[in-house]
Amino acid sequence: MAHFTIIGTGNMANVIGGLLADGGSSVSYISHEQVGSAALEGDVVVLAVPHPAVDGILDAYGDQLAGKTIIDITNPLNFETFDSLVVPAGSSKAAEIQAKVPGSHVLKAFNTNFAATLTGKQVGGVPTTVLIAGDDATAKQVLAGAVEAGGVKVLDAGALSRAHELEAIGFLQITLAAGEKISWTGGFAIV
Ligand SMILES: NC(=O)c1ccc[n+]([C@@H]2O[C@H](COP(=O)([O-])OP(=O)(O)OC[C@H]3O[C@@H](n4cnc5c(N)ncnc54)[C@H](OP(=O)(O)O)[C@@H]3O)[C@@H](O)[C@H]2O)c1
Repeated sequence: MAHFTIIGTGNMANVIGGLLADGGSSVSYISHEQVGSAALEGDVVVLAVPHPAVDGILDAYGDQLAGKTIIDITNPLNFETFDSLVVPAGSSKAAEIQAKVPGSHVLKAFNTNFAATLTGKQVGGVPTTVLIAGDDATAKQVLAGAVEAGGVKVLDAGALSRAHELEAIGFLQITLAAGEKISWTGGFAIV
């Protein structure tokens, strides 16, 4: 089983870490204060932080990220208007991370799953599915195996270019929940 280093100690960090641990993976955490000083253990790094924090973390770890799998779970919303994404049209936060750290294998995952649906492992009675997009088949297999071992389904959403659509789905889901049209414990399910 892979070892995952999760950067962040908030809601999603704990939920994803718990899921991976349920499946038998080992997990370590790096808190906000430890960014840059704590070592990246293992081959997989999960960025469980708000999107504006990502660039600073990439700068802090620099070359240490080469060869690692980076899992981007962010929904890059405009936090002022809550009415758009901040990435250029057609692009994604995940694509920006890949461009900044070309020696890494970036995966987009978990951004379409509200935290509660990863803890409860179901959405409205349907098993939760984690959609994963990325260009490296081995990196995707490692993440998919660890997530499925934790008791949640996985669907390969395709190449990293599909992160654009995953971020659009995540954005729409947040606006629906923020508008109280769906619950933060619900959201999109796949049957
Ligand atoms: N919550 C959900 O249901 C959900 C679902 C899908 C995707 N996401 C995405 O998951 C990410 C994390 O969300 P969350 O709900 O877990 O947020 P959260 O509970 O607020 O946790 C955020 C974590 O990031 C850390 N952090 C903040 N700024 C940082 C910085 N500049 N450098 C390093 N660490 C920093 C925080 O540390 P401090 O508190 O010490 O500052 C905290 O540990 C976001 O990108 C969000 O879009 C969330």
